[in-house]
Amino acid sequence: MDALQKKRKAAEAALAFIEPGTKLGVGTGSTVNCLIDLLPSVRSNIEAIVSSSRASTELLENEGFEVSTLNETGDLDLYIDGADESNKRLQLIKGGGGALTREKIVAGASRRFVCIVDDSKLVGMLGSFPLPLEVIPMAQSFVARRLLKMRAQPVWREGFVTDNGNHILDIHDLAIPNPLEMESRLNEIPGVVTVGIFARRPADVLLVAGDSGVREMRV
Ligand code: A5P
Repeated sequence: MDALQKKRKAAEAALAFIEPGTKLGVGTGSTVNCLIDLLPSVRSNIEAIVSSSRASTELLENEGFEVSTLNETGDLDLYIDGADESNKRLQLIKGGGGALTREKIVAGASRRFVCIVDDSKLVGMLGSFPLPLEVIPMAQSFVARRLLKMRAQPVWREGFVTDNGNHILDIHDLAIPNPLEMESRLNEIPGVVTVGIFARRPADVLLVAGDSGVREMRV
């Protein structure tokens, strides 16, 4: 099974979590795109839908969904999103697609976070995937200098502007043995809007698709 087939399997498995009357948050990325393709099959169970990016909003609208804002819906029942990496405690790296800030907001506003991945995303320690930081443009060089002092290797995602008008620094080769501590430490640098570590708000359920099927993991 190739990676896209696995992503589809994980997305299919997530449909079972969408119960009647669900206020649903939808993430961003190629795995979530598979989910969006399938959402019309559970349309009658969805009371309201909130998106974490302009890209997902457009896809949802193409499927005929009216996308609400989080201010309109209040807290959500369920958030479904992909991830770039997950450890066994369901702490994640997210933001490969640059939507980490809205993803973190929607995840934080949701009672349950179901994360859908193919098995290449499950790792022993977070950090092989470059860790995205969303930064205020005027602080970009300052934040990069602070990261260099921490012996981190920031690389500006050139030409990329987030949905919030900010920039992304990707930190390469950063071992993250303590995701909670690293999330807080990086968040404290002035000018950092969002760190792509989801440890304070990890996933509640991880659906991992592999050759032998979809494994459900919980902490
Ligand atoms: C988007 O900003 C990311 O957080 C995605 O959720 C993550 O990059 C996973 O993307 P794929 O599903 O495309 O692998």
